[in-house]
Amino acid sequence: MSGRVKGCFDSLNARWPWLKIALPTVIILVFIIRTLAPVGDSETVRLAPMQAHPAVPERPARSFEGKKLVALTFDDGPSPATTPRLLDILKEQQVPATFFELGSLVKRNAWITQRALREGHEIASHTMWHQNLARLSASAAQGDVNEANAAFVEAIGYVPALVRPPYGSINGETWKSFGGATMISWSVDTLDWKYRNTESIMNNLVNQISDGGIVLMHDIHATSVDAVPSVIAKLREMGYEFVTVSELIKMRGVSVEPSKMYARFAP
Ligand code: NI
Repeated sequence: MSGRVKGCFDSLNARWPWLKIALPTVIILVFIIRTLAPVGDSETVRLAPMQAHPAVPERPARSFEGKKLVALTFDDGPSPATTPRLLDILKEQQVPATFFELGSLVKRNAWITQRALREGHEIASHTMWHQNLARLSASAAQGDVNEANAAFVEAIGYVPALVRPPYGSINGETWKSFGGATMISWSVDTLDWKYRNTESIMNNLVNQISDGGIVLMHDIHATSVDAVPSVIAKLREMGYEFVTVSELIKMRGVSVEPSKMYARFAP
């Protein structure tokens, strides 16, 4: 230590003798808090197991013999204004769905995510901030995905196995940020966010639905939630059975690859 630096310490010591104790205490405290907070630590989150999660919950045995399969998916929530009402409808109808949620909203509304999981729905990721990942650098995309993963780990204890990139948009690098999660898009675009009425949603549904289809809707719009009873009734009438996306993958015996985006799991 140079004489000048030592002189500086001596004068500090003379003016604020309590600093000698306070400074090391603060440094030690900060170190302890950082060590004890694993959720915000991206290293820990990246190491969270991708496979050991309850993506396919236990359900009473159902017969899928001769049935067509469909997965309803809801994006951009959870919203306290609309998602609980949707959960009520799904519960009454005994229909499982898959929720592609934003980490930023999961953080604020973890109780809704937890309720959805408890009621047999699948929780999947729609990233943290709904950015277009095709326009981000690999490291910015990784940062967003890590932040979302941390939010899911905090709310439900695991990183979801499925992810839907916002706008279905990725590039040659940014998909790698998902760390092995399966990318899911959709085969039925109800355009519920654009034409906010049941009739338009039903027309798009009926025109695009096929066996193994994945239906895209948004649980943040009241008009979308309003349409759900009609959507369910129509699909039942057409001979469809409802499954989560992970159940659909399992039933169709597809071994998914992390570099591919899946829109449908045909028979
Ligand atoms: Ni979205």
